[in-house]
Amino acid sequence: MFQYFHELCHMGNRRLLFLLAALGVNYLLFQSILVPYGNGRAPWSSDSSAFNSIEDEGIQNYAKSSLVFDGVSKIGVDRNDFHDVGKNNSLELDNVGSMKSFMEILAKESKVNFSVKRFSETKRGVSTFSQLVKSTNVDSREYDRVGLDTSRITTSSANLTHLEDSQKIKLFVSDKSTAANVTVRKPKCNMPPKSRMLIQEMNHLLQRRRTSSRAMKPRWSSKLDMEILAARSEIEHAPIVTHDKELYAPLFRNHSMFKRSYELMERTLKVYIYKEGNKPIFHQPILKGLYASEGWFMMLMEENKQFVVKDPAKAHLFYMPFSSRMLEFSIYVRNSHNRTNLRRYLKDYTDTISAKYRYFNRTGGADHFLVACHDWAPYETRHHMEYCIKALCNSDVTQGFKIGRDVSLPETMVRSVRNPQRDIGGKPPQQRSILAFYAGNMHGYLRPILLKHWKDKDPDMKILGPMPHGVAHKMSYIQHMKSSKYCICPKGYEVNSPRVVEAIFYECVPVIISDNFVPPFFEVLNWDAFSLILAEKDIPNLKQILLSVPEEKYLKLQLGVRRVQKHFLWHTKPLKYDLFHMTLHSIWYNRVFQINVRK
Ligand SMILES: *[C@@H]1O[C@H](CO)[C@@H](O)[C@H](O)[C@H]1NC(C)=O
Ligand SMILES: *[C@@H]1O[C@H](CO)[C@@H](O)[C@H](O)[C@H]1NC(C)=O
Ligand SMILES: *[C@@H]1O[C@H](CO)[C@@H](O)[C@H](O)[C@H]1NC(C)=O
Ligand SMILES: *[C@@H]1O[C@H](CO)[C@@H](O)[C@H](O)[C@H]1NC(C)=O
Ligand SMILES: *[C@@H]1O[C@H](CO)[C@@H](O)[C@H](O)[C@H]1NC(C)=O
Ligand SMILES: *[C@@H]1O[C@H](CO)[C@@H](O)[C@H](O)[C@H]1NC(C)=O
Ligand SMILES: *[C@@H]1O[C@H](CO)[C@@H](O)[C@H](O)[C@H]1NC(C)=O
Repeated sequence: MFQYFHELCHMGNRRLLFLLAALGVNYLLFQSILVPYGNGRAPWSSDSSAFNSIEDEGIQNYAKSSLVFDGVSKIGVDRNDFHDVGKNNSLELDNVGSMKSFMEILAKESKVNFSVKRFSETKRGVSTFSQLVKSTNVDSREYDRVGLDTSRITTSSANLTHLEDSQKIKLFVSDKSTAANVTVRKPKCNMPPKSRMLIQEMNHLLQRRRTSSRAMKPRWSSKLDMEILAARSEIEHAPIVTHDKELYAPLFRNHSMFKRSYELMERTLKVYIYKEGNKPIFHQPILKGLYASEGWFMMLMEENKQFVVKDPAKAHLFYMPFSSRMLEFSIYVRNSHNRTNLRRYLKDYTDTISAKYRYFNRTGGADHFLVACHDWAPYETRHHMEYCIKALCNSDVTQGFKIGRDVSLPETMVRSVRNPQRDIGGKPPQQRSILAFYAGNMHGYLRPILLKHWKDKDPDMKILGPMPHGVAHKMSYIQHMKSSKYCICPKGYEVNSPRVVEAIFYECVPVIISDNFVPPFFEVLNWDAFSLILAEKDIPNLKQILLSVPEEKYLKLQLGVRRVQKHFLWHTKPLKYDLFHMTLHSIWYNRVFQINVRK
């Protein structure tokens, strides 16, 4: 159902698009934040032609966040700032002005025609639309739906109205086409994967890839390659660090190597950022919501003075600063079920930089990198960016993620741009009264299995479905995370979930259940020190597995979570070892170990 609606919202009707975007802002007013949310976007498989529409779940999916625009360069408004006003449906929208200007910028720069219409045209529809908009592409991924019994979507002609009757909502969304019925078919990504790779195999693969480089031999040698090679040798012979005030050694696969590599990165690494590419798809960071990781990285990289060089001849690495989120938002053709043009857009870009500069062709892209958090990013970057280092939230080994080359980028849900650390922390271990907690929507095939086994089965296992909506429930969700020993992070439509970082944020030991998911910073972190990673088939034994962890081990895990927290935080001014630096470091580290040289 989400699918269908999502499609509707993508259709060519510019006015609708804007309206929905404006409603996204409105949505901030009313819904504060949506927790729990699900993960992943609905079901396009990488083969877009094989797209099957619509899950039968009502409009159960909410956009994971709404874009709000402060006009020019950075995007992101603090949804939480609207809390207090948020309950009054008759409020006018303050943001229309800035929204309007943003839309105009968008329209100009992306050649997309956004018609700007006054928000007030929606008349009384406000709160209903605010719910509606959650399932639009205003942010293309969706929140778990919470408690609302949404009945049906139908299309009607060129109009946008809705009716609400207490709990039931009917949506009539305009389209030029005639009324279409909603077909209910099982989307591809709602099916279990054909092959599974468990964490043990991933570890073996990483070891294997470390011993032999897979990157192309460069077309000509460069003294910068030699610098990297020298760094590699130093890392491999890292002096053993015994006392370290800054880093907690158990968190790392090899603490000494990490430390040495990080120092060498600080001392050596130079990055060139391509100037090509227009806003908003390029150079336009979005700092809020579920795709915030790519936006924060982009902003901090482009502002950076330490690593960035103006002369590409001096660079070890080349950054292609696009936003996978904006790519979808700007050029995905609504209702098309077709993402070919998104990929083509990036191919054109790659062709441009490879024709204009000699660096791309030198290595086939092996010293180029991208940072992208949208679920579609693996698809969008396939083929033309195939040999680049891809930092992806959707780090799925069955979707082309290459362990040892690509970097698993943490999916961070940023609620407050001004204060991304808001609400951080949780109860001490002794006061965590709930054994295991999960709440969220039934995205994908796995969560229904989890609920089937554990919902209302055991008082220690707070395994819930969608939580009722609203501020109180947001707090309840966070409080549950702060009061639970283990937070279950099952996959949704895609392998990645914001819950992993969220658990770390609230100092709850994450229990990741997502076969084929490569956990963040896999190449350097020892996830055994601060999480449990279970196979999907372990779900029936979940409680026994959790209870079998001795108290002493649990305390170590929880300490690990508190110590690893700082590596998962964004800062407006980056700090040593924070998320910005961890991301850049993993890109550097993988380049160091993949490099192939021509002597
Ligand atoms: C909502 O705003 C309207 C107009 O500003 C006001 O008349 C009404 O009392 C407000 N309602 C609440 C619940 O605050
Ligand atoms: C944008 O929309 C306006 C009003 O609907 C129309 O006049 C104009 O031709 C459109 N521009 C493009 C590029 O489609
Ligand atoms: C939209 O539909 C409603 C109800 O069907 C109708 O009253 C209204 O005039 C329509 N508006 C437009 C712009 O077509
Ligand atoms: C949609 O399908 C259902 C069941 O097949 C049918 O009852 C309903 O009338 C259809 N609605 C439309 C608008 O075609
Ligand atoms: C870490 O790496 C260093 C350098 O390669 C090595 O000497 C040391 O034994 C490694 N430590 C562990 C715990 O593997
Ligand atoms: C998808 O769109 C591209 C152009 O953007 C077009 O060439 C292709 O035929 C479309 N594919 C399908 C299945 O419609
Ligand atoms: C790089 O390779 C592409 C494709 O082979 C080619 O079109 C392009 O001109 C090359 N770039 C340079 C700078 O030679």
